[in-house]
Amino acid sequence: MKFFLDSAILGEIEYLYNAGICDGITMNPSLVKKAVEGLKGSAEKATLESYITKALKIAKGTPVSLEVTELGAREMIAQGKALYKKFNPVAGNVYIKIPADPSFDGNDGKDLDGIFAISELHKAGIPVNCTLIFTPEQALAAAKAGANFVSPFAGRIDDMLRKGIGANFGKEDYYPASGLVRDDQLVEDNGIVSGIDLVGQTVKIFRQYGIKSEVLAASLRNARQVREAALVGADIATMPFNVFRELLIHKLTREGMEKFTKDTPEEFRKLV
Ligand code: E4P
Repeated sequence: MKFFLDSAILGEIEYLYNAGICDGITMNPSLVKKAVEGLKGSAEKATLESYITKALKIAKGTPVSLEVTELGAREMIAQGKALYKKFNPVAGNVYIKIPADPSFDGNDGKDLDGIFAISELHKAGIPVNCTLIFTPEQALAAAKAGANFVSPFAGRIDDMLRKGIGANFGKEDYYPASGLVRDDQLVEDNGIVSGIDLVGQTVKIFRQYGIKSEVLAASLRNARQVREAALVGADIATMPFNVFRELLIHKLTREGMEKFTKDTPEEFRKLV
């Protein structure tokens, strides 16, 4: 499974590429907002354009998803093409992120606009990551339209399921992949019992039909979710910097290190 960093912060991008465990980057408007706020506070006079350019160079050879912010099909296509034209020449690694359904007003008739945009960008040879996926059928439609990556958002499904049962929870809390039972009923959203279940069902359908689009497990908030995304066969896991760090933490590893360090004989240190 490939590891992508879900961040637009240059320091985090540099750090993980230098560590050699980053296979790509995903950005979204909220992550770019964070980076812009950071830029305003820094002494360095970088522009957002130069900042993204640096990120693309660091990530050369691996995909970087840049998300459109327009809402209509025509506008998303134009913005997607313009972003690709501007930034892909930097390192040849830009993927355009298109929402499964850009409509936030149920009656605006834009529900298929994401699919139109994916088809059009695909025809133009522009790689696409379809984002904000909450059902396997959205993923299927995006794959049919030509999306290279489909991004089911695991953590946000878990948040919604927890909210539905009035649970108190922190953003990074673990939600069981097999779901929770309340009043003898499995808590679910339209047949999905957890974010990892959403990823797993999507993978299963794609494998069943030999669909080539890669399943990119997104909105992962803790290390155990990353493991479970791997267990259900996700091709890619995108995660924030803190989750990358969490992957390595175990108290016995730390205790073991303390003991090994104390036990190391001076003679061994002098060997090299
Ligand atoms: C992925 O492409 C998204 O940017 C991301 O994973 C969203 O994560 P969040 O739900 O934790 O904001």
